[in-house]
Amino acid sequence: MIIAIDGTAGSGKSTTARLVARKLNFLHIDTGAMYRAAAYAVLKNNIDPDDKSTVEELVEGLKIRLQQNDEIQVLLNDKPVTDKIRSPEVTAIVSTVSSYDGVRRKLVKEQREMGKARDVVLEGRDIGTVVFPEADVKLFFIADIEERVRRRCHDMIEQGEKVDFDTLLTDIKSRDRLDSTRKASPLKKAEDAITIDTSNLTIDEQVEKVLSLISKKQSDKPSVKE
Ligand code: DC
Repeated sequence: MIIAIDGTAGSGKSTTARLVARKLNFLHIDTGAMYRAAAYAVLKNNIDPDDKSTVEELVEGLKIRLQQNDEIQVLLNDKPVTDKIRSPEVTAIVSTVSSYDGVRRKLVKEQREMGKARDVVLEGRDIGTVVFPEADVKLFFIADIEERVRRRCHDMIEQGEKVDFDTLLTDIKSRDRLDSTRKASPLKKAEDAITIDTSNLTIDEQVEKVLSLISKKQSDKPSVKE
């Protein structure tokens, strides 16, 4: 079974996807983490993020894998980079790096291979539209911008990072714009996706909602006749 969750930054999709996958013993594929690993490699190699062809050439040669233990580990050329990919420097360039079609081609191919192997929850921006348009359950998470910024502030404070509400607001607005207006697979709701507005939902409520949609889908599936 394939569950696709798309949505903007801070809409709650990552936490929900992680908890739903854990509950159902599905594989959780955080595709944003893969784009972040690619952006991190661009920084490490001192490549100008605006230099499309050099970025595409670099990413084509990278091995980016997700390893699921209790938490997801992101491996870049077999080395763990999980604690490096959420830095402000990576966040500042990830929308540019992920807008290149060569980068997307490479990572979408990997995501499809991982997704075919077993039951999965994939989350990102283009899962229901491009990566798995045939997904069994397609969800599109949205939330008010101020609530999304509050959540990001909370996460960053928990990680011991300094935060400034206005800077985060500008950053999230700019990423929303870049992710939704790029030419290659922009953030867009698939026509048959169900929208979930998480502005006033707790994490537990989000998880419950998704689990009940999955269970409804499972019971709607025609059973195989013997
Ligand atoms: O989910 P996130 O904020 O960690 O994602 C980081 C960036 O990666 C996001 O700004 C857009 C890009 N992304 C994408 O283009 N396609 C995806 N399927 C997932 C993320």
